[in-house]
Amino acid sequence: MDISQIKIGIIGGGNLGKAVAEGFLKAGIEASGMVVSRRRVHLLEDLRAKGVRIEKDNLQAVVDREVIILAVKPYQAEDLLTELRPALKPGQILVSLMTGFTMKELASLVPEGVLIFRVMPNTAVALQESMTLISAPECEAPTQQVVSELFETLGKVIFINEELMSAATVLGACGIAFALRFIRAAIQGGVEIGFGADVAQQIVAQTVKGATELILQTGRHPEQEIDKVTTPKGITISGLNEMEHQGFSSALIRGLLVSFNKLNNKNN
Ligand SMILES: NC(=O)c1ccc[n+]([C@@H]2O[C@H](COP(=O)([O-])OP(=O)(O)OC[C@H]3O[C@@H](n4cnc5c(N)ncnc54)[C@H](OP(=O)(O)O)[C@@H]3O)[C@@H](O)[C@H]2O)c1
Repeated sequence: MDISQIKIGIIGGGNLGKAVAEGFLKAGIEASGMVVSRRRVHLLEDLRAKGVRIEKDNLQAVVDREVIILAVKPYQAEDLLTELRPALKPGQILVSLMTGFTMKELASLVPEGVLIFRVMPNTAVALQESMTLISAPECEAPTQQVVSELFETLGKVIFINEELMSAATVLGACGIAFALRFIRAAIQGGVEIGFGADVAQQIVAQTVKGATELILQTGRHPEQEIDKVTTPKGITISGLNEMEHQGFSSALIRGLLVSFNKLNNKNN
């Protein structure tokens, strides 16, 4: 299938839905094949200017679509799917980006034969640098291939069992905020030791990007790369050890667990 010609309907053009549409456009998916809906459509004028169809009427946004992407808040989903139900047809692919809404719950709200996927991207979709986790239903490989190829245009894709979706949400989607808080703290330190905030930000952002590429491109464990920078009795190991004495790794792991437990409590 030529993914650039795919007919997509995005329901809920908010922060994530709009970023996904922008990522698809950057990836070369035809604007004329895309429809985005929300109630306050005036907030989608920039997408309209790029050739994307904008709809206030959700039913019009799902008719004839091969893939429908749900990007509303979870508490809005039940009403929305009740509204969409008459327009959904067996064989259509329904991709839910919503946190904490299971495939079983979604299946109970749509006609039989609609192929439901849960997909957890992060806000780097707009730059095609998302880490996107996908849970697939039991369906034919070509259908899974369509969803995989579609989200590969927005970054990296890994298929996971649905039980891991909460963990994926915390590590991949909340993870953007966790990584940015590290970056912010490093900038603050950089200012204290002599740089203006703008230069400190450039240094930190490029350094983090370099560190990321070192492990992405080599597949090596982070500690192997750390070993290369830590001279015995040197300055790097002293700084690192002080951070650990202050609970650096522990704070991060505990933060992840708090988010994970809170998400699971919400879902239960
Ligand atoms: N942000 C993230 O990093 C992230 C990452 C992964 C997953 N998610 C999930 O993505 C979903 C969206 O998150 P978000 O941050 O993009 O929220 P958001 O900015 O509030 O976007 C939701 C959009 O849905 C629209 N909407 C609400 N009811 C609607 C309806 N009946 N028909 C059509 N559009 C409707 C709203 O626009 P109007 O009010 O104009 O209708 C709003 O723009 C959530 O379920 C979240 O769990 C978010």
